[in-house]
Amino acid sequence: MSTNTTTPVKVAVTGAAGRVGYDLLFRIAGGGMLGQNTPVELRLIDLPGMMGELEGRAMELHDCAFETLDHVEIGSDERTMFDGIDFALLVAGKPRKAGQDRADLLKANGELFAKQGRALNEVADRDVKVLVTGNPANTNCLIAAASAPDIPRHQFSGLTRLDHDRARHRLGKKLDVNVAQVKKMSIWGNHSSTMFPDVFHAEVDGRNAWEQIDDMEWLINKYIPTVANRGADIISKRGASSAASAANATLAAMRDWSMGTPEGDWVSMAVPSEGAYGVPDYLFCSFPVTVDADGYHVVTGLHHSDFAHARIHMSVQELISEYQAVKSLGMIPS
Ligand code: LMR
Repeated sequence: MSTNTTTPVKVAVTGAAGRVGYDLLFRIAGGGMLGQNTPVELRLIDLPGMMGELEGRAMELHDCAFETLDHVEIGSDERTMFDGIDFALLVAGKPRKAGQDRADLLKANGELFAKQGRALNEVADRDVKVLVTGNPANTNCLIAAASAPDIPRHQFSGLTRLDHDRARHRLGKKLDVNVAQVKKMSIWGNHSSTMFPDVFHAEVDGRNAWEQIDDMEWLINKYIPTVANRGADIISKRGASSAASAANATLAAMRDWSMGTPEGDWVSMAVPSEGAYGVPDYLFCSFPVTVDADGYHVVTGLHHSDFAHARIHMSVQELISEYQAVKSLGMIPS
C-alpha cells in the first residue's frame, strides 16, 4: 500500500511546540510517515504563547530542504488549523508527573480532546485519520470520537504502539534475538499499568514465543511489570515523560495505519471495539490488528488461557471505569 499522490497531504500535529512534537515533525516532513512519494503540508498547532517556538520549528523544517515537505502552517486555533486535514496527530496534553497514573490526567486533558473532536467534526476531511497520543490515550480518543459524531469512529485510534514496541524489545532480549525476529506481539486493553502484553501469540524466529520461554515467574514478575510500568520508570529516571520513543511510536502507528502492516505480522492499536473478545462496544481498546487497503482489521480467533483472559478483563474493567468517569464529568454526550 502507498498513499502515492502529488497533491500535498495535510497533516496536523497538536502539541507541536513540545518535546514529542520536536521529535515527530522532522520525521514526518522527511517522508518517514507517508513515504517518499507523498508531499506533506504540515500544520503545527500549539497554545498562542508558543507561536515563537513554532515559527522557529517551521524555519528549521525549511532548512532541512526535505523534498517531501510542501509547506508549513502554524497556529493555535484548531478550527482553522484542522480545516480539510487528512491526518491528525493529537499529541497535546498535560504530561503526567512522577507518582501520577495516566488516568489522573483525565480531568485535565479530557476537555481538550472534546474541543479537538468538535473542531475535527466541523472542518476536517471526512476521511481523516485521527491518532491520539496524549494521555490517557484510549479514553481521550473515546472523548474525541464521541465529540465528532460525523466522522466514523473507526477513523480514531489511541496509541498503544509504544507498549507494543517496548514489549517486542523485551521479548527479543529474553530470547537473545534481534527485535526484527519478534513478530505478532499484541497489547490488549488500556495504555496503562493494567495493559496485557501477550507473549502467548507472539512469534520469535518463526516459532511460538511462549514455547521457547514457558516461565510464568518471569512473565508475571518481570516481563509484564517491566513493559506496563515503562512509562513511569522513564519519568522517574528523566524527570519527564518519554519523548523520542513516544514520537517514534506515533510515527510508526500512523505509518502502518496508512501504508499497511507487513505480511505475516500485526501491530497493536487502540480502536473502537466491535464486541470482539467480549470487549464492550463503547470502548477504545487495544487489540492486535492487521492493516490493508481496506483499513485495519482486528485479528480474530485468538484463544486466551484463563490467565490471559483475566489480565485482559482487568484492563477492560479499568477502561469501563474511565468511561464512566468521563461520562459523569459530562465530557461525552449521553
Ligand atoms: C509513556 O508510556 O511513556 C507515555 O504514555 C508517557 C507516560 O505518562 O507514561
